[in-house]
Parts: sequence; structure tokens; C-alpha cells
Amino acid sequence: MMSQDGLKFRAAAAAIEYLDDQRIIGVGTGSTVNHFIDLLGDFKSRLDGAVSSSEASTERLKKIGIPVIDLNSAGSIDLYVDGADEINPSLQLIKGGGGALTREKIVAAASRQFVCIADESKLVDVLGSFPLPVEVIPMSRSFVARELVRLGGQPEWRKDFVTDNGNDILDLHNLSIVDPPNMEKQINSIAGVVTVGLFASRPADVVLVGTACGLQKLT
Ligand code: A5P
Repeated sequence: MMSQDGLKFRAAAAAIEYLDDQRIIGVGTGSTVNHFIDLLGDFKSRLDGAVSSSEASTERLKKIGIPVIDLNSAGSIDLYVDGADEINPSLQLIKGGGGALTREKIVAAASRQFVCIADESKLVDVLGSFPLPVEVIPMSRSFVARELVRLGGQPEWRKDFVTDNGNDILDLHNLSIVDPPNMEKQINSIAGVVTVGLFASRPADVVLVGTACGLQKLT
């Protein structure tokens, strides 16, 4: 029986096949993407560099000798590879378990193709069992938390955690997100919210799922 990490590796290895003639790719964050970064080492001569979605991925990319390029200098990106915390059948995602949601959303938005890699435990029918991360400006934390309660969730401050952008995270429990694009809009419109970790208006284009029986591709 393959471990969960083995299934993550299986998904990451499948994403390598999406490398083509891109000189710059976008790279996400998390344990699944870490496998992808490690595998990228063999292909680094084909790349000018990568746009990174977190300080953690930046460090890992640099360690294997892949230059990290500022998004402002990269222009639009052809391929973005990232993980997810939950994935529904419409390829809409919850992301941000590692707290990198804002930069991830920016790089995903700037990319032509978003390839999501995950093990099969991430597949759900309805998003929301995984607490939905919301990045907030620190002074707005209590206000935003009260507004999130009005939306029906139960926010919990991720204590002792500061995002790469110097902000706080509220994890929103007990939601059943039946209309993800609408929920994304509603949360993003609260003053003080930097980003919600719902990727619904810009879902993944392809999801590569590592399963015990092999690789499953969702489009
Ligand atoms: C990082 O903030 C997240 O969005 C990750 O992409 C997500 O948590 C998936 O992480 P794993 O690959 O570690 O499961």
C-alpha cells in the first residue's frame, strides 16, 4: 500500500510532463509541490527560472539552482503547478493550509494553465470540511472574524503564524460551500481581507491525482 507521501510524489511526477518549451514557470507551495521542485532539478537547464509563491518554495528552488524571478519581470506565465487542500468536481479548490494563499492566488491568476497536484484524500463533493483560510490585515482581524460569523462560519485565529506578507490568517470552520464563486466574492469584499483561500473564479485547469491505483487526471 503506497503512503500518502508516495501518492503526492506520483501526482508531482505526472506534472513534469507538462513541461514543454516554457522558460519560466510558476511554482506553488506545500509538501506535494516540494516533490515537484525536487524533480525540476533534472530540467533546470530548460528553464530561465521560476516565479515562486512563498519564501519556503523560493528557498527550495534556489537550493537546487533554479533562479527565482520576480513576477513583475516575468510577464504572463504559461504554466503554474501547485497543490490544494480540497478539490471539488468543478476543480474549484480550498488552498492556504500552509498560509501561502495570497501569493498562490496571484501566480495562479497570472498563469495561462494551472495544473493542480494532489493525493486522492483531497477530493471532496462539497468544499468546506477543510477550514477555509482567510488572510487578513492584522488590525482588521476581530472585525473580519465577526463578519465571517455572519456568513455562517466559525473563524479561528491561526495563532503564532504570520504570512510571508506580514498578515494574519483566520481559518473558517463549519462551512458547506455550495456556491464557491459567490462565497469567494462575499469574503473578498469584507474590508481587511487580503485573500480568501477559495480558488473558484479561477479554478484549476487540470488536476493530477495520485491514487492507490495510479494516476487520475481531472479536467
Ligand atoms: C499552501 O498554502 C497551500 O495552498 C498548499 O498548496 C496546500 O496546503 C497543499 O499542501 P500539501 O501539498 O502539503 O498537502
